[in-house]
Amino acid sequence: MIEREEMNIPERVVATDAPEEERVFEVGLRPQSLDDFVGQDDLKENLSIFIEAAKKREEAIDHVLLYGNPGLGKTTLAHIIANEMGAQIRVTSGPALERVGDLAAILSNLGPGDVLFIDEIHRMNKTIEEVLYPAMEDYALDIIVGKGPTARTLRLNLEKFTIIGATTRLSLLSAPLRDRFGAVHHLNFYEENHIGDIVKRSANLLDVTMDDDAAGLLAARSRRTPRIANRLLKRVRDYAQVKADGHINHDVCGTALEKLKVDHVGLDQTDRRILSTIVEKFKGGPVGLSTIAAATQEEIQTIEDVHEPFLIQIGFLQRTPRGRIVTERGSEHLQ
Ligand SMILES: Nc1ncnc2c1ncn2[C@@H]1O[C@H](COP(=O)(O)OP(=O)(O)OP(=O)(O)O)[C@@H](O)[C@H]1O
Ligand SMILES: [Mg+2]
Repeated sequence: MIEREEMNIPERVVATDAPEEERVFEVGLRPQSLDDFVGQDDLKENLSIFIEAAKKREEAIDHVLLYGNPGLGKTTLAHIIANEMGAQIRVTSGPALERVGDLAAILSNLGPGDVLFIDEIHRMNKTIEEVLYPAMEDYALDIIVGKGPTARTLRLNLEKFTIIGATTRLSLLSAPLRDRFGAVHHLNFYEENHIGDIVKRSANLLDVTMDDDAAGLLAARSRRTPRIANRLLKRVRDYAQVKADGHINHDVCGTALEKLKVDHVGLDQTDRRILSTIVEKFKGGPVGLSTIAAATQEEIQTIEDVHEPFLIQIGFLQRTPRGRIVTERGSEHLQ
């Protein structure tokens, strides 16, 4: 425990969300072009055709919706798309758009071809959403002027712009909103070798030297998520600088990761506790999420957003209508 404090390690090195301080660190590692964006090959190919075609026609690209788990590169891609189009990007988010007037002001200030990036678009309120429909479809805003019987609607024309929406929860998006996106792309968890490439690229940018097998070791424990890979790299770099000569070899990397209590498939103590609770207290399930949360003293939201997606992805956990079940592989991992 003292070690944890010494190394200034957050309790959850595998958390998929990122606090403000970390987001600043991430900006420096963010790829700027599609060529620099590692992995997600199908998605990249689709996007590059989509972008090329729009450029040839000298038009704004169609609205794009990006969805996938936190830390997989949605924000990064939104900036890349704008870059590749040579477009200006404005950034906002669902919860930040509180009043219709805010959205109207943003939209009417967009120039031709500009990109408006709306993060967490599933958290936008209904009234705002309805203003967005004609804006996306007809590049127009319908504004109500006056009150009562004399009220009338004025139509304000907008420049042709592009909305890029990002969400971790596609299912929370209303169908009419989803249908207004010309392209909907899913970001998957990454291949392990691609995470290895991301680790090497980031090490380069951070000016640290690292052996290939160390990069592989780190990649295997990064839950196939670039954000976690970069975070672990930062911790391992700190460790190498304090406890070794700064170079990250296999040994240094392994010891640092051990201290972070991330196991060889990338599970942390909380993941393992969730699995072992289901196995030991509920005979492996099925058991409901709220019961798991109560038994492990974790928040439902944290289990659902941080732990469950990856446990399901690697086949340790199953979600069924009657609750969560730990698979055979999952219980074997605990032994
Ligand atoms: N394909 C990639 N190649 C290289 N680095 C990447 C890639 N995807 C993501 N990253 C890195 O991971 C970090 C997190 O990515 P990003 O912020 O785009 O995730 P996100 O999907 O927007 O997450 P959230 O849902 O939390 O907003 C970025 O700073 C970037 O450095
Ligand atoms: Mg983001």
